[in-house]
Parts: sequence; structure tokens; C-alpha cells
Amino acid sequence: MDGYASCGKSTLAKDLASALGYRYIDSGAMYRAVTWYLLEHQLATEEGPSLRAALDTIVLDFVAKDGSTVLTINGQEPGLALRSMEVNRMVSPVSALHSVRLAMVERQRAFANRAGLTMDGRDIGTHVFPEAELKIFVQSRPEIRAARRLAELRKAGDTQWTTEEVLANLRERDEMDSNRDFAPLRRAHDAVDLDNSNMSQEEQLAWAMDLALAKGAVRP
Ligand code: DC
Repeated sequence: MDGYASCGKSTLAKDLASALGYRYIDSGAMYRAVTWYLLEHQLATEEGPSLRAALDTIVLDFVAKDGSTVLTINGQEPGLALRSMEVNRMVSPVSALHSVRLAMVERQRAFANRAGLTMDGRDIGTHVFPEAELKIFVQSRPEIRAARRLAELRKAGDTQWTTEEVLANLRERDEMDSNRDFAPLRRAHDAVDLDNSNMSQEEQLAWAMDLALAKGAVRP
């Protein structure tokens, strides 16, 4: 699943994985984790030997904990800090860096396995898995996306942002993600479109499940 920021891709990819007994990987969380890590440790956020050295040593893992999956980076668990406004602001420039993308795409491809995988991001259908059996390009109205991101920030205890500020950040990221040189956000030519603005979580899952079953996925 690919699409703009906060359009519900992760929810759909996670729900579909759980319905099919597949593994789910949030590729955006990987870019967020690297961004968080570089900021947290005051490491370089531009191309150069120091960034490449950091990327070489970064170990990213999705580990099961209390019935859900948490992301760890070099043993640290950033948790809700992954969704902070600081990370929201820096993640697009960091994820546009060539060496960051190369390092993440290599790790993302390594998650592919016979048991099945769903992954969401910006370049999954176009670049990471061009041969994926099912590609969905997700869209949602801007005010709905902003409301979702605002709720996420509030959940993390960050109540200082207005809808307008969140919307501005989403637009900025969409713009940067769509216009970077390497693997920009694009709808894959063979993707199926989904606008979930007026759909419930259950409805979008049922819609995607039908597509997955038609492509040969088997209900566990
Ligand atoms: O899906 P998200 O909003 O959590 O992603 C955060 C940022 O990570 C997004 O603005 C751009 C980057 N990203 C990317 O460049 N490629 C991906 N496949 C996924 C995310």
C-alpha cells in the first residue's frame, strides 16, 4: 500500500495482515526510527561518511511485545516519539537521502517471505516490491488525514498543535515525498485505487480482503 501521509495505509495494511496471518511491516516507521535515532544521538542528517557509518551499524527490528509489535533501533524503543512533531518535520528530508533509502530498502526486501507480507509506504509498489501481487494506492480527504494525525499527536501527549499546523506539515511532507529524486511517491501503474474518506475501518478491510482473495491469498 502506498499513498500520502496519514491516509490510513498502515491501518489497512495491518488489518489485512492480521486477517490473512501475514507479517506486517510499516516502512514509514523505519524512516521515522532512523530520523529519531539521528536526532536523538545528534548524528549527521546530511549525506557524508558520518551518516553512512551510522547507517551501517543501525539494527532495526520489529519485536512482539504485550500482544503487539514494537520497533526497536539498536536496542532502543522510541515508541510514541516516532510520531512526534520533531520527527514529522525531519523525516521527509532524511528519507530523501540516497544512503538512507538504500539502507532501508535493503532491509525492507529482506522481510519478504513465503508466509506472506503486507507493507505500506510511499515507494513499495513502484520500487521496493514492483512484483507485489496486490498494490493499493490509498487516498483520503486532507481534513480527515489531519484529524487522524492530530489524534495521534494527542495520544502521545502532544496537544500544542492546531489542525492547520498539522495539515501544513502533511502538505509539506507530501510535496517533498513526491518530488525527491530517488524513488518518489508515485501511484504504481498497476495499483488499485482506494479513497477511504467515507469508509469505516471494517469496510476498507473487507474491500481489500476481496481483492487479496481474488489474487490468490487464502484465509487462514
Ligand atoms: O507513513 P509515514 O507517514 O509514517 O512515513 C513517514 C515518512 O517516511 C514519509 O513522510 C516519507 C518517508 N517514507 C518514505 O520515504 N518511503 C516509504 N516507503 C515510507 C515512508
